[in-house]
Amino acid sequence: MVPLLKIASIETLYYDRIYALHGLSLEVREKEIFTVLGPNGAGKTTLLKTIAGLLKDQPKKGTIEFLGKRIHRLPPEHISVLGIVYVPEDRGLFRELTVKENLDLGWWGRRDRGIRDDFEFVFELFPILKERATQEAETLSGGEQQMLAMARAMLRRPKLLMLDEPSLGLAPLVARHVYDALSRISQAGTTILLVEQNAKMALGIADFGYIMESGRIVLEGTSKELQENEDVKEFYLGLGGEAISPKGWRLYKKRRTW
Ligand SMILES: Nc1ncnc2c1ncn2[C@@H]1O[C@H](COP(=O)(O)OP(=O)(O)O)[C@@H](O)[C@H]1O
Ligand SMILES: [Mg+2]
Repeated sequence: MVPLLKIASIETLYYDRIYALHGLSLEVREKEIFTVLGPNGAGKTTLLKTIAGLLKDQPKKGTIEFLGKRIHRLPPEHISVLGIVYVPEDRGLFRELTVKENLDLGWWGRRDRGIRDDFEFVFELFPILKERATQEAETLSGGEQQMLAMARAMLRRPKLLMLDEPSLGLAPLVARHVYDALSRISQAGTTILLVEQNAKMALGIADFGYIMESGRIVLEGTSKELQENEDVKEFYLGLGGEAISPKGWRLYKKRRTW
């Protein structure tokens, strides 16, 4: 079966000389949750931006195929129309617009009859958004903003939903709620590519994971395989999903087996 997304040996550079992605390859199968884990600076955000077409003239090398067709170096609007929707780390909301107005921007341009069902689905996932409908987005809590960004993304009916560290900065219970919603979105048939530093949460819902360091994939496997891997356990799971401290990181570089 052709994977939904197939990335082969891409290289993305900043200022034509700083390598952020260094011959990275990965695949995302339809209807599954894939996660890319890695420490700060590994290149996770750059990867999602490269897929979404947000970095001009990147990737410099390699190919990205979506549903068997090449999409690398297409304009971002074109990639989004194909069904790739990206929730950035800063959530990308219009801060001075209300919750409802932000949601309406999500389905803008759609003409099908499924919009009402999709609204129902996102309000069922995040009932708080209905209560906050007339409130400006900037007055929402961090968790509510993440929920709004995810709801708005779902109103575009993505074929591939990409999220950049959705649990970042959220209290554990709120992060749990966001992750439960991701599971339900997946069960309803949407393919998810999730980038995280929080390995524990991400492997808890993902089917398959990649470990990324310095712009490369250094390890891949099913969530179960990664959860049982000694290095992953020690350096990604043992620290409770917190970012690795500089001291721990040096130790890690010395001792890791990949
Ligand atoms: N706009 C930018 N200009 C120059 N370098 C950047 C820019 N964004 C990211 N980088 C560099 O690219 C590398 C990967 O960054 P990033 O993709 O943000 O990693 P992550 O999301 O895993 O923390 C880092 O070394 C970072 O400093
Ligand atoms: Mg990032």
